[in-house]
Amino acid sequence: MADETIFTWGAPPLKFGAGASDEIGFEMSGYGVRRVLVVTDHGVHALGAPERIADGLRRYGIEAEIFDGVHVEPTDDSMNKAAEYARAQGPWDGFVAVGGGSAIDTAKAVNLLTSHPGELMDYVNKPIGAAKVPPGGLKPLVAVPTTAGTGSESTAMCVMDILSMKVKTGISHWRLRPALAVVDPLLTMTLPPEVTAASGMDIVCHAVESYTARYYTSFDRKEPEERVTYCGSNPVSDLWCERAMGLLANSFRTAVREGADNVGARSDMMMAATFAGMGFGNAGVHIPHANGYPIAGMVRDYRPEGYPQDEPMVPHGQSVSLTAPEAFRFSFDSAPERHLRAAELLDPGADRAREPSEQLPSVLVALMRDVGIPNGIGGVGYSEDDVPDLVPGTMKQQRLLATCPRMPDEDDIAGILTRSVENW
Ligand SMILES: NC(=O)c1ccc[n+]([C@@H]2O[C@H](COP(=O)([O-])OP(=O)(O)OC[C@H]3O[C@@H](n4cnc5c(N)ncnc54)[C@H](O)[C@@H]3O)[C@@H](O)[C@H]2O)c1
Ligand SMILES: [Zn+2]
Repeated sequence: MADETIFTWGAPPLKFGAGASDEIGFEMSGYGVRRVLVVTDHGVHALGAPERIADGLRRYGIEAEIFDGVHVEPTDDSMNKAAEYARAQGPWDGFVAVGGGSAIDTAKAVNLLTSHPGELMDYVNKPIGAAKVPPGGLKPLVAVPTTAGTGSESTAMCVMDILSMKVKTGISHWRLRPALAVVDPLLTMTLPPEVTAASGMDIVCHAVESYTARYYTSFDRKEPEERVTYCGSNPVSDLWCERAMGLLANSFRTAVREGADNVGARSDMMMAATFAGMGFGNAGVHIPHANGYPIAGMVRDYRPEGYPQDEPMVPHGQSVSLTAPEAFRFSFDSAPERHLRAAELLDPGADRAREPSEQLPSVLVALMRDVGIPNGIGGVGYSEDDVPDLVPGTMKQQRLLATCPRMPDEDDIAGILTRSVENW
Protein backbone atom coordinates (compact mmCIF):
# COMPACT_ATOMS: atom_id res chain seq x y z
CA MET A 1 0.00 0.00 0.00
CA ALA A 2 1.29 3.47 -0.89
CA ASP A 3 2.25 5.94 1.80
CA GLU A 4 -0.17 8.72 2.68
CA THR A 5 0.62 12.09 1.12
CA ILE A 6 -2.33 14.10 2.44
CA PHE A 7 -3.14 15.53 5.84
CA THR A 8 -6.21 17.45 6.96
CA TRP A 9 -6.63 20.21 9.52
CA GLY A 10 -9.74 21.92 10.85
CA ALA A 11 -10.88 24.20 13.67
CA PRO A 12 -13.86 26.46 14.30
CA PRO A 13 -13.59 30.25 14.23
CA LEU A 14 -12.32 31.62 17.54
CA LYS A 15 -13.07 34.67 19.65
CA PHE A 16 -10.46 34.86 22.43
CA GLY A 17 -9.80 37.21 25.32
CA ALA A 18 -10.93 38.78 28.60
CA GLY A 19 -14.58 39.76 28.18
CA ALA A 20 -15.17 37.65 25.03
CA SER A 21 -18.08 35.86 26.70
CA ASP A 22 -19.98 39.19 26.85
CA GLU A 23 -20.27 39.11 23.05
CA ILE A 24 -22.12 35.79 22.67
CA GLY A 25 -25.53 37.47 22.15
CA PHE A 26 -24.13 39.38 19.20
CA GLU A 27 -22.46 36.26 17.77
CA MET A 28 -25.56 34.09 18.15
CA SER A 29 -27.79 36.75 16.55
CA GLY A 30 -25.66 36.36 13.42
CA TYR A 31 -26.98 32.80 13.00
CA GLY A 32 -30.58 34.06 12.87
CA VAL A 33 -31.64 31.95 15.88
CA ARG A 34 -34.72 32.65 18.04
CA ARG A 35 -34.53 30.06 20.81
CA VAL A 36 -31.27 28.83 22.39
CA LEU A 37 -30.49 26.29 25.14
CA VAL A 38 -27.52 27.06 27.40
CA VAL A 39 -25.98 23.74 28.54
CA THR A 40 -23.95 23.65 31.78
CA ASP A 41 -23.37 21.76 35.06
CA HIS A 42 -24.55 22.67 38.59
CA GLY A 43 -21.12 23.82 39.73
CA VAL A 44 -20.60 26.20 36.82
CA HIS A 45 -24.24 27.37 36.99
CA ALA A 46 -23.67 28.43 40.60
CA LEU A 47 -20.79 30.68 39.50
CA GLY A 48 -23.18 32.87 37.48
CA ALA A 49 -21.58 32.73 34.02
CA PRO A 50 -24.41 30.78 32.32
CA GLU A 51 -26.98 33.29 33.66
CA ARG A 52 -24.91 36.23 32.41
CA ILE A 53 -24.56 34.62 29.00
CA ALA A 54 -28.32 33.87 28.84
CA ASP A 55 -29.01 37.54 29.68
CA GLY A 56 -26.62 38.56 26.93
CA LEU A 57 -28.61 36.43 24.46
CA ARG A 58 -31.89 37.98 25.64
CA ARG A 59 -30.53 41.47 24.97
CA TYR A 60 -30.40 40.45 21.31
CA GLY A 61 -34.03 39.28 21.38
CA ILE A 62 -33.07 35.59 21.63
CA GLU A 63 -35.11 33.42 23.97
CA ALA A 64 -32.63 31.60 26.24
CA GLU A 65 -33.08 28.82 28.81
CA ILE A 66 -30.52 27.06 30.95
CA PHE A 67 -30.13 23.29 31.37
CA ASP A 68 -27.72 22.64 34.27
CA GLY A 69 -28.02 18.85 34.48
CA VAL A 70 -24.66 18.02 32.85
CA HIS A 71 -22.89 15.20 34.69
CA VAL A 72 -19.24 15.98 35.50
CA GLU A 73 -17.50 13.45 33.20
CA PRO A 74 -20.63 12.56 31.21
CA THR A 75 -22.03 9.05 30.85
CA ASP A 76 -24.27 7.55 28.15
CA ASP A 77 -27.04 7.84 30.71
CA SER A 78 -26.42 11.51 31.50
CA MET A 79 -26.12 12.43 27.81
CA ASN A 80 -29.39 10.62 27.04
CA LYS A 81 -31.11 12.47 29.88
CA ALA A 82 -29.82 15.81 28.58
CA ALA A 83 -31.03 14.93 25.07
CA GLU A 84 -34.46 13.87 26.43
CA TYR A 85 -34.77 17.20 28.23
CA ALA A 86 -33.83 19.11 25.09
CA ARG A 87 -36.25 17.10 22.94
CA ALA A 88 -39.09 17.62 25.41
CA GLN A 89 -38.51 21.37 25.80
CA GLY A 90 -37.52 21.97 22.16
CA PRO A 91 -37.30 22.81 19.40
CA TRP A 92 -34.06 24.81 19.75
CA ASP A 93 -32.37 26.77 16.99
CA GLY A 94 -28.95 26.69 18.64
CA PHE A 95 -26.92 25.82 21.74
CA VAL A 96 -24.37 27.51 23.97
CA ALA A 97 -22.18 25.20 26.07
CA VAL A 98 -20.73 26.85 29.19
CA GLY A 99 -18.34 24.75 31.27
CA GLY A 100 -15.47 22.35 31.01
CA GLY A 101 -15.22 19.41 28.63
CA SER A 102 -18.17 17.78 30.40
CA ALA A 103 -20.61 20.57 29.44
CA ILE A 104 -19.20 21.07 25.94
CA ASP A 105 -19.23 17.34 25.14
CA THR A 106 -22.79 16.98 26.45
CA ALA A 107 -23.91 19.92 24.29
CA LYS A 108 -22.32 18.29 21.22
CA ALA A 109 -24.32 15.10 21.84
CA VAL A 110 -27.53 17.05 22.55
CA ASN A 111 -27.04 19.02 19.35
CA LEU A 112 -26.55 15.82 17.33
CA LEU A 113 -29.51 13.98 18.88
CA THR A 114 -31.92 16.92 18.50
CA SER A 115 -30.79 17.78 14.95
CA HIS A 116 -31.16 14.24 13.55
CA PRO A 117 -33.04 11.01 14.27
CA GLY A 118 -31.30 8.11 15.96
CA GLU A 119 -30.02 7.20 19.40
CA LEU A 120 -26.67 7.89 21.06
CA MET A 121 -25.37 4.35 20.41
CA ASP A 122 -26.03 4.71 16.67
CA TYR A 123 -23.29 7.35 16.52
CA VAL A 124 -20.80 6.09 19.15
CA ASN A 125 -17.45 4.79 17.84
CA LYS A 126 -17.16 1.15 16.83
CA PRO A 127 -16.97 -1.53 18.23
CA ILE A 128 -19.07 -0.16 21.11
CA GLY A 129 -21.56 1.73 18.94
CA ALA A 130 -22.52 1.70 15.25
CA ALA A 131 -20.39 4.75 14.29
CA LYS A 132 -23.18 6.09 12.07
CA VAL A 133 -22.27 9.28 10.21
CA PRO A 134 -24.44 12.30 11.12
CA PRO A 135 -26.75 12.56 8.08
CA GLY A 136 -26.45 16.35 7.75
CA GLY A 137 -25.48 19.61 9.39
CA LEU A 138 -26.09 20.34 13.07
CA LYS A 139 -27.51 23.48 14.72
CA PRO A 140 -25.03 26.24 15.62
CA LEU A 141 -23.21 25.43 18.88
CA VAL A 142 -21.12 28.13 20.56
CA ALA A 143 -18.66 26.52 22.98
CA VAL A 144 -17.48 28.54 25.98
CA PRO A 145 -14.88 26.70 28.07
CA THR A 146 -14.55 27.49 31.79
CA THR A 147 -11.60 25.15 32.33
CA ALA A 148 -8.23 25.36 30.61
CA GLY A 149 -7.84 21.78 29.49
CA THR A 150 -9.81 19.69 27.08
CA GLY A 151 -9.80 21.92 24.00
CA SER A 152 -13.26 20.44 23.36
CA GLU A 153 -14.39 23.86 22.09
CA SER A 154 -12.36 23.23 18.93
CA THR A 155 -12.46 19.43 18.57
CA ALA A 156 -14.83 17.23 16.59
CA MET A 157 -15.46 14.68 19.33
CA CYS A 158 -17.36 14.08 22.54
CA VAL A 159 -16.39 11.60 25.23
CA MET A 160 -18.60 9.57 27.55
CA ASP A 161 -18.56 6.68 30.00
CA ILE A 162 -20.63 3.69 28.88
CA LEU A 163 -21.85 2.67 32.32
CA SER A 164 -22.88 -0.91 31.55
CA MET A 165 -19.47 -1.71 30.02
CA LYS A 166 -17.30 0.36 32.39
CA VAL A 167 -15.56 1.83 29.37
CA LYS A 168 -15.07 5.33 28.02
CA THR A 169 -15.54 6.04 24.36
CA GLY A 170 -16.99 8.77 22.20
CA ILE A 171 -18.46 10.10 19.02
CA SER A 172 -16.07 11.53 16.54
CA HIS A 173 -17.09 13.32 13.34
CA TRP A 174 -16.23 16.71 11.91
CA ARG A 175 -19.89 17.77 12.04
CA LEU A 176 -19.68 17.79 15.88
CA ARG A 177 -17.22 20.68 15.81
CA PRO A 178 -18.75 23.77 17.44
CA ALA A 179 -19.68 26.61 15.07
CA LEU A 180 -17.67 29.04 17.19
CA ALA A 181 -15.30 28.84 20.17
CA VAL A 182 -15.54 31.76 22.59
CA VAL A 183 -12.59 31.53 24.97
CA ASP A 184 -12.63 34.00 27.87
CA PRO A 185 -9.82 33.48 30.42
CA LEU A 186 -11.74 35.48 33.06
CA LEU A 187 -14.16 32.54 33.32
CA THR A 188 -11.35 30.38 34.73
CA MET A 189 -10.36 32.61 37.68
CA THR A 190 -12.58 30.57 40.06
CA LEU A 191 -11.12 27.17 39.14
CA PRO A 192 -9.86 25.31 42.23
CA PRO A 193 -6.13 24.42 42.13
CA GLU A 194 -6.92 20.69 41.79
CA VAL A 195 -9.01 21.27 38.65
CA THR A 196 -6.39 23.70 37.29
CA ALA A 197 -3.76 20.99 37.80
CA ALA A 198 -5.72 18.08 36.31
CA SER A 199 -7.05 19.98 33.31
CA GLY A 200 -3.58 21.49 32.81
CA MET A 201 -2.07 17.99 32.65
CA ASP A 202 -4.70 17.20 30.00
CA ILE A 203 -3.24 20.06 27.93
CA VAL A 204 0.29 18.70 28.50
CA CYS A 205 -0.75 15.23 27.34
CA HIS A 206 -2.68 16.55 24.32
CA ALA A 207 0.35 18.54 23.19
CA VAL A 208 3.01 15.88 23.83
CA GLU A 209 0.98 12.91 22.57
CA SER A 210 0.07 14.69 19.34
CA TYR A 211 3.61 15.92 18.88
CA THR A 212 4.95 12.37 19.25
CA ALA A 213 2.08 10.75 17.28
CA ARG A 214 2.89 8.72 14.14
CA TYR A 215 3.67 11.07 11.29
CA TYR A 216 0.81 11.31 8.79
CA THR A 217 2.94 10.01 5.88
CA SER A 218 3.57 6.73 7.72
CA PHE A 219 -0.08 5.64 7.41
CA ASP A 220 -1.49 3.76 4.41
CA ARG A 221 -3.00 5.91 1.71
CA LYS A 222 -6.74 6.49 2.32
CA GLU A 223 -9.62 7.00 -0.07
CA PRO A 224 -11.36 10.37 0.38
CA GLU A 225 -14.37 8.80 2.11
CA GLU A 226 -12.10 6.91 4.53
CA ARG A 227 -10.41 10.01 5.95
CA VAL A 228 -10.73 10.27 9.73
CA THR A 229 -10.58 13.28 12.05
CA TYR A 230 -7.16 12.24 13.36
CA CYS A 231 -4.48 11.93 10.72
CA GLY A 232 -1.26 11.75 12.80
CA SER A 233 1.28 14.47 13.52
CA ASN A 234 1.67 16.90 10.66
CA PRO A 235 3.32 20.28 10.05
CA VAL A 236 0.25 22.36 11.03
CA SER A 237 -0.68 20.46 14.23
CA ASP A 238 3.01 20.46 15.23
CA LEU A 239 3.10 24.25 15.27
CA TRP A 240 0.13 24.50 17.65
CA CYS A 241 1.54 21.80 19.95
CA GLU A 242 4.94 23.47 20.14
CA ARG A 243 3.41 26.81 21.08
CA ALA A 244 1.15 25.13 23.65
CA MET A 245 4.17 23.55 25.36
CA GLY A 246 5.94 26.92 25.54
CA LEU A 247 2.94 28.55 27.21
CA LEU A 248 2.69 25.66 29.68
CA ALA A 249 6.38 26.06 30.55
CA ASN A 250 5.77 29.72 31.41
CA SER A 251 2.51 29.56 33.28
CA PHE A 252 1.28 26.13 34.43
CA ARG A 253 2.88 26.14 37.89
CA THR A 254 1.93 29.80 38.44
CA ALA A 255 -1.71 29.20 37.44
CA VAL A 256 -2.00 26.43 40.04
CA ARG A 257 -0.32 28.54 42.74
CA GLU A 258 -1.81 31.98 42.04
CA GLY A 259 -4.84 31.18 39.91
CA ALA A 260 -7.32 33.30 41.85
CA ASP A 261 -5.69 36.60 40.89
CA ASN A 262 -3.13 36.04 38.13
CA VAL A 263 -5.00 36.88 34.92
CA GLY A 264 -1.82 36.58 32.84
CA ALA A 265 -1.20 32.98 33.92
CA ARG A 266 -4.88 32.09 33.38
CA SER A 267 -4.73 33.64 29.90
CA ASP A 268 -1.63 31.64 28.99
CA MET A 269 -3.31 28.43 30.16
CA MET A 270 -6.45 29.17 28.13
CA MET A 271 -4.31 29.85 25.11
CA ALA A 272 -2.32 26.65 25.71
CA ALA A 273 -5.55 24.63 25.93
CA THR A 274 -6.86 26.20 22.72
CA PHE A 275 -3.58 25.65 20.86
CA ALA A 276 -3.23 22.05 22.04
CA GLY A 277 -6.86 21.45 20.98
CA MET A 278 -6.00 22.68 17.50
CA GLY A 279 -3.07 20.27 17.51
CA PHE A 280 -4.48 17.08 18.99
CA GLY A 281 -7.92 17.68 17.51
CA ASN A 282 -6.36 16.90 14.14
CA ALA A 283 -3.26 14.82 14.91
CA GLY A 284 -4.71 12.52 17.62
CA VAL A 285 -3.46 11.23 20.97
CA HIS A 286 -2.04 7.82 21.87
CA ILE A 287 -1.04 5.56 24.82
CA PRO A 288 -1.51 7.91 27.81
CA HIS A 289 -5.06 8.75 26.70
CA ALA A 290 -5.82 5.12 25.81
CA ASN A 291 -4.75 4.09 29.35
CA GLY A 292 -6.72 6.99 30.83
CA TYR A 293 -10.00 5.48 29.68
CA PRO A 294 -9.94 2.28 31.83
CA ILE A 295 -8.21 4.15 34.69
CA ALA A 296 -11.20 6.52 34.82
CA GLY A 297 -13.83 3.94 33.83
CA MET A 298 -12.98 1.34 36.51
CA VAL A 299 -12.57 3.71 39.47
CA ARG A 300 -13.53 2.20 42.82
CA ASP A 301 -13.52 4.72 45.65
CA TYR A 302 -11.16 7.56 44.76
CA ARG A 303 -12.73 10.99 45.36
CA PRO A 304 -10.42 13.85 44.36
CA GLU A 305 -10.46 17.21 46.10
CA GLY A 306 -11.85 20.10 44.07
CA TYR A 307 -14.42 17.89 42.28
CA PRO A 308 -18.00 16.89 43.20
CA GLN A 309 -17.84 14.40 46.08
CA ASP A 310 -21.10 12.53 45.46
CA GLU A 311 -19.45 9.66 43.56
CA PRO A 312 -15.93 8.28 42.98
CA MET A 313 -14.08 9.54 39.89
CA VAL A 314 -10.63 9.88 38.39
CA PRO A 315 -10.74 13.23 36.55
CA HIS A 316 -9.80 12.97 32.88
CA GLY A 317 -6.64 15.08 33.27
CA GLN A 318 -5.37 12.89 36.11
CA SER A 319 -6.26 9.64 34.36
CA VAL A 320 -4.35 10.52 31.18
CA SER A 321 -1.22 11.81 32.91
CA LEU A 322 -0.61 8.94 35.37
CA THR A 323 0.99 6.62 32.80
CA ALA A 324 2.47 9.35 30.58
CA PRO A 325 6.09 9.12 31.86
CA GLU A 326 6.18 5.35 31.21
CA ALA A 327 4.36 5.63 27.88
CA PHE A 328 6.94 8.12 26.61
CA ARG A 329 9.80 5.86 27.78
CA PHE A 330 8.17 3.17 25.62
CA SER A 331 7.70 5.37 22.53
CA PHE A 332 11.07 7.18 22.80
CA ASP A 333 13.03 5.09 20.29
CA SER A 334 10.47 5.63 17.55
CA ALA A 335 11.06 9.40 17.45
CA PRO A 336 13.85 10.44 19.87
CA GLU A 337 14.20 13.99 18.52
CA ARG A 338 10.50 14.74 19.06
CA HIS A 339 10.57 13.43 22.65
CA LEU A 340 13.66 15.52 23.42
CA ARG A 341 12.20 18.63 21.80
CA ALA A 342 8.97 18.24 23.82
CA ALA A 343 11.02 18.00 27.05
CA GLU A 344 13.00 21.09 26.07
CA LEU A 345 9.85 23.10 25.29
CA LEU A 346 8.08 22.05 28.49
CA ASP A 347 11.07 22.84 30.71
CA PRO A 348 13.88 24.71 28.95
CA GLY A 349 15.97 24.85 32.14
CA ALA A 350 15.70 21.17 33.12
CA ASP A 351 18.87 19.30 34.10
CA ARG A 352 20.04 16.84 31.47
CA ALA A 353 19.02 13.28 32.36
CA ARG A 354 21.65 10.52 32.22
CA GLU A 355 19.77 8.68 29.45
CA PRO A 356 18.09 10.71 26.66
CA SER A 357 14.98 8.53 27.01
CA GLU A 358 14.67 9.75 30.64
CA GLN A 359 14.54 13.45 29.75
CA LEU A 360 10.81 13.74 28.96
CA PRO A 361 9.66 11.40 31.78
CA SER A 362 11.73 13.35 34.32
CA VAL A 363 10.33 16.71 33.13
CA LEU A 364 6.78 15.31 33.39
CA VAL A 365 7.32 13.81 36.85
CA ALA A 366 8.76 17.09 38.20
CA LEU A 367 5.74 18.96 36.82
CA MET A 368 3.20 16.49 38.22
CA ARG A 369 4.82 16.64 41.67
CA ASP A 370 4.78 20.45 41.64
CA VAL A 371 1.13 20.81 40.63
CA GLY A 372 -0.13 18.06 42.96
CA ILE A 373 -1.09 15.17 40.67
CA PRO A 374 -1.42 11.80 42.48
CA ASN A 375 1.65 9.57 42.46
CA GLY A 376 0.89 7.03 39.74
CA ILE A 377 -2.13 4.77 39.36
CA GLY A 378 -1.46 3.71 42.97
CA GLY A 379 -2.40 7.25 43.98
CA VAL A 380 -5.94 6.80 42.62
CA GLY A 381 -6.53 3.39 44.18
CA TYR A 382 -5.02 0.76 41.83
CA SER A 383 -2.32 -1.81 42.59
CA GLU A 384 -0.29 -4.18 40.45
CA ASP A 385 -3.06 -6.76 40.96
CA ASP A 386 -5.47 -4.54 38.97
CA VAL A 387 -3.28 -4.39 35.87
CA PRO A 388 -4.79 -7.50 34.14
CA ASP A 389 -8.25 -5.92 34.52
CA LEU A 390 -7.12 -2.55 33.14
CA VAL A 391 -5.31 -3.88 30.05
CA PRO A 392 -8.42 -4.92 28.01
CA GLY A 393 -9.88 -1.42 28.49
CA THR A 394 -6.76 0.07 26.93
CA MET A 395 -6.64 -2.50 24.11
CA LYS A 396 -10.22 -1.51 23.13
CA GLN A 397 -8.87 1.95 22.22
CA GLN A 398 -7.29 0.64 19.00
CA ARG A 399 -7.92 3.94 17.22
CA LEU A 400 -5.68 5.71 19.75
CA LEU A 401 -3.06 2.98 20.02
CA ALA A 402 -2.64 3.00 16.24
CA THR A 403 -1.58 6.65 16.53
CA CYS A 404 1.44 5.65 18.67
CA PRO A 405 4.61 5.56 16.59
CA ARG A 406 5.42 2.19 18.23
CA MET A 407 2.38 -0.09 18.38
CA PRO A 408 2.04 -1.64 21.85
CA ASP A 409 0.68 -5.13 22.47
CA GLU A 410 -1.04 -6.38 25.63
CA ASP A 411 2.23 -7.18 27.37
CA ASP A 412 3.62 -3.74 26.58
CA ILE A 413 0.53 -2.06 28.06
CA ALA A 414 0.65 -4.32 31.14
CA GLY A 415 4.31 -3.33 31.62
CA ILE A 416 3.54 0.39 31.25
CA LEU A 417 0.68 0.17 33.78
CA THR A 418 2.71 -1.91 36.24
CA ARG A 419 5.63 0.51 36.16
CA SER A 420 3.16 3.40 36.65
CA VAL A 421 1.81 2.21 40.01
CA GLU A 422 4.23 4.79 41.43
CA ASN A 423 5.88 7.48 39.32
CA TRP A 424 8.30 8.74 41.95
N1 LIG B 1 -14.10 16.44 23.42
C1 LIG B 1 -12.81 16.49 23.59
O1 LIG B 1 -12.07 16.78 22.67
C2 LIG B 1 -12.27 16.16 24.95
C3 LIG B 1 -10.90 16.20 25.17
C4 LIG B 1 -10.41 15.92 26.44
C5 LIG B 1 -11.30 15.60 27.47
N2 LIG B 1 -12.64 15.55 27.22
C6 LIG B 1 -13.62 15.23 28.29
O2 LIG B 1 -13.86 16.40 29.07
C7 LIG B 1 -14.24 16.02 30.41
C8 LIG B 1 -13.37 16.76 31.43
O3 LIG B 1 -13.54 18.15 31.27
P1 LIG B 1 -12.74 19.22 32.17
O4 LIG B 1 -11.44 18.68 32.56
O5 LIG B 1 -12.77 20.46 31.38
O6 LIG B 1 -13.59 19.36 33.49
P2 LIG B 1 -15.16 19.24 33.80
O7 LIG B 1 -15.98 19.85 32.75
O8 LIG B 1 -15.43 17.79 34.11
O9 LIG B 1 -15.26 20.10 35.13
C9 LIG B 1 -14.54 19.70 36.29
C10 LIG B 1 -15.10 20.39 37.55
O10 LIG B 1 -14.73 21.77 37.54
C11 LIG B 1 -15.87 22.58 37.76
N3 LIG B 1 -15.63 23.85 37.05
C12 LIG B 1 -15.58 24.04 35.71
N4 LIG B 1 -15.25 25.30 35.44
C13 LIG B 1 -15.10 25.94 36.63
C14 LIG B 1 -14.74 27.27 37.00
N5 LIG B 1 -14.45 28.20 36.09
N6 LIG B 1 -14.65 27.57 38.32
C15 LIG B 1 -14.89 26.62 39.27
N7 LIG B 1 -15.23 25.35 38.97
C16 LIG B 1 -15.32 25.01 37.66
C17 LIG B 1 -17.05 21.78 37.24
O11 LIG B 1 -18.26 22.17 37.86
C18 LIG B 1 -16.63 20.36 37.64
O12 LIG B 1 -16.96 20.09 38.97
C19 LIG B 1 -14.06 14.51 30.48
O13 LIG B 1 -15.31 13.87 30.33
C20 LIG B 1 -13.15 14.21 29.31
O14 LIG B 1 -13.28 12.89 28.83
C21 LIG B 1 -13.12 15.84 25.99
ZN1 LIG C 1 -7.67 14.71 27.05
